[in-house]
Amino acid sequence: MAIWHINGGHKLKGSCFVQGSKNAALPVITASVISGGVTELLNVPQLSDITNTLRILRQLGCVAEQQGNDVYIDSTCLSSNTVPAEMMEKMRSSVLFMGALLARCGEVHLTNPGGCKIGARPVDLHISAMKALGAEVEENGCEIVCKADKLKGAHIELPFPSVGATENAMIAACMADGETVISGAAKEPEIVDLQEYLRKKGAYIYGAGTGKISINGFEKSKHCGHRIIPDRIVASSLLCAAAAAGGDIELRGVDLKEFSCLQHFLNEAGCDIIVNQRSIRLVSDGRLRSVSDVVTAPYPGFPTDAQPLLMAALLKADGKTEFTENIFDSRYCHARELSRFGADITVNGRNATVWGVKSLNGATVTATDLRGGAAMIIAGLSANGKTEVVDTGHIFRGYENFDYKLRSLGADVYMEI
Ligand code: EPZ
Repeated sequence: MAIWHINGGHKLKGSCFVQGSKNAALPVITASVISGGVTELLNVPQLSDITNTLRILRQLGCVAEQQGNDVYIDSTCLSSNTVPAEMMEKMRSSVLFMGALLARCGEVHLTNPGGCKIGARPVDLHISAMKALGAEVEENGCEIVCKADKLKGAHIELPFPSVGATENAMIAACMADGETVISGAAKEPEIVDLQEYLRKKGAYIYGAGTGKISINGFEKSKHCGHRIIPDRIVASSLLCAAAAAGGDIELRGVDLKEFSCLQHFLNEAGCDIIVNQRSIRLVSDGRLRSVSDVVTAPYPGFPTDAQPLLMAALLKADGKTEFTENIFDSRYCHARELSRFGADITVNGRNATVWGVKSLNGATVTATDLRGGAAMIIAGLSANGKTEVVDTGHIFRGYENFDYKLRSLGADVYMEI
């Protein structure tokens, strides 16, 4: 368990690089097993979810190591098709071993995955995609077994653009005979990054970033290298922190098109955002206005992962802001904790209303989940006095050296482990 100590009220100033994307790295690392051979990755953040995924690869018989932000994987000697339950429980993305091991071994044994408690997170769309590719799937309580002598290309129609189900279908379809078309696919930048990696690995795949992805064959390459894209949600967290606490920060190595929704709201709240090539600068005096309705939606809509972050940034914004959470059915646990700072938030089902208050007071709060934890830090930075965020490991799952990064921007924060 870690405790984050924050002394609020310091403006953030300075410039920093944004870490590599957790949600892009996890599917790429998992997909590395589909055909054996070596994968070398750059810009992989050092996070517990990454460590746990590499641990699964080693459990499966692969070589998998991380040094700094470089990852080396050799999956040639993969010798198991089973992911133990205690490893599945650690994170949601472990479900991607369903497609990856089915593609490689023709059989996979796993259990329902864990992950942030932000609502019901079934895996029915993942299973339907495997079935469409010709797999037989048996579910016995939490256990899932998928088998296929040979996967066959198919038309997979996703009724909802699930990020994970799209990734699982893309990964498995690489090893199918014939063409697979995934329609209703998720369009997130992390999906595009996975496509880039799969191409380097040998897949004929195109369409990622649109609602229709086609996969048609695979020509194994022995060695492939790939650089993971920057983390748009970590960048959003830093922008929201500077918006709320006030200051002038520049984030380097990020692409603005991934932030256009957040940029819109931060501008409306009164922040100046200056975009240069591959960098974003935000200037805020910390006195924000409420914004028009924030409604989460699949990409390119406003990201559900940024909802807790923007909510934390707007707790002191003058007026009323309405939030609607459309992706997960229980993603407001952070609202109760934010109220401990003196925030005025009412939650009603998928809707939450924030009435801006004049000031926030430091508080002892709990990180309820990964982005909920980041929301506590944002609120603590803009509150008066001392805050303690009690974290049972959520923030480490997604934020690399976050205390160090915030301190380099002038925040008074340290983490006690
Ligand atoms: C990914 O989760 C991200 N995780 C999440 O990031 C992110 O919040 C989410 O996409 C939405 O953008 C990773 O990439 C590792 P989904 P995923 O499948 O793939 C329902 C973070 O903070 N659904 O798009 O699990 C599901 O219940 C995290 O970094 C089904 O009903 O998200 C949810 O309501 C948290 N059946 C909705 O779809 C299924 O089989 C979106 O889920 C699959 C999903």
